[in-house]
Amino acid sequence: MKGVVLAGGTGSRLHPLTRITNKHLLPLNDRPMISYAIEALVGSGVGEIMLVTGGTHAGEFLRLLGNGNEFGIDRLFYAYQDKAGGIAEALGLAEKFVAGDRCVVLLADNVFERSIKACVEAFRRQKGGARVVLSRESNATHLRHLGVAQFDGDKRIARIIEKPEDPPSDFAVTGVYFYDDSVWRVLPELKPSGRGELEITDVNNWYVQQGLMEYDVIDGFWGDAGESISAYYAVNDFVRSHVANRES
Ligand code: G1P
Repeated sequence: MKGVVLAGGTGSRLHPLTRITNKHLLPLNDRPMISYAIEALVGSGVGEIMLVTGGTHAGEFLRLLGNGNEFGIDRLFYAYQDKAGGIAEALGLAEKFVAGDRCVVLLADNVFERSIKACVEAFRRQKGGARVVLSRESNATHLRHLGVAQFDGDKRIARIIEKPEDPPSDFAVTGVYFYDDSVWRVLPELKPSGRGELEITDVNNWYVQQGLMEYDVIDGFWGDAGESISAYYAVNDFVRSHVANRES
């Protein structure tokens, strides 16, 4: 399984901090944000990774990560995104890298208390299709800024609703996604959303409609440090006093 780390975007929700750097290079406790996502993948046994980024600070990732060996990566590849067109658009740049294999995609602003290793292993066992990782979130205001799962009577995901006004459940869709190679057929069919982006939720809903979507619920803290300044500081507070990507 190949790993794809998405670290592009304009980071507009963290302006003005992100006028002078890429959001994923901002510090979280003692290291740049991106290192938590790399650690999550490497700790789950994913050794071949492509980092997708863009903008004027892209070169800093090379300075930080180099060939990746110091971070435990076997082989690190880079892709450059010309314009910020959304998560699904960024993923498209990894097609040739993943080439026939499956992939785990991680948004580089997502930080987890618990390791995603069990989810990676579950997807290795899964016949095909896709898999998302959910986190329980009871705050409705927070859920309105995220993708939220709606379930059917059999506890399968019936639909994922992006930024719902009326959240259909307490389960947020985190920024970890697993796909088989059908994903490359889905991406070219996507249409930009109201915010002008190709939405990963549209990709996920394609798999839901085919009946090919599975999920895990991850315990412990989960934060999207790019969501707002207060979310960024909530994640910072967490990593200052706890270990991230913990296996037990
Ligand atoms: C993206 C996804 C959303 C998901 C979130 C997790 O949102 O679209 O479904 O819940 O990441 O971090 P964005 O950060 O692009 O608003």
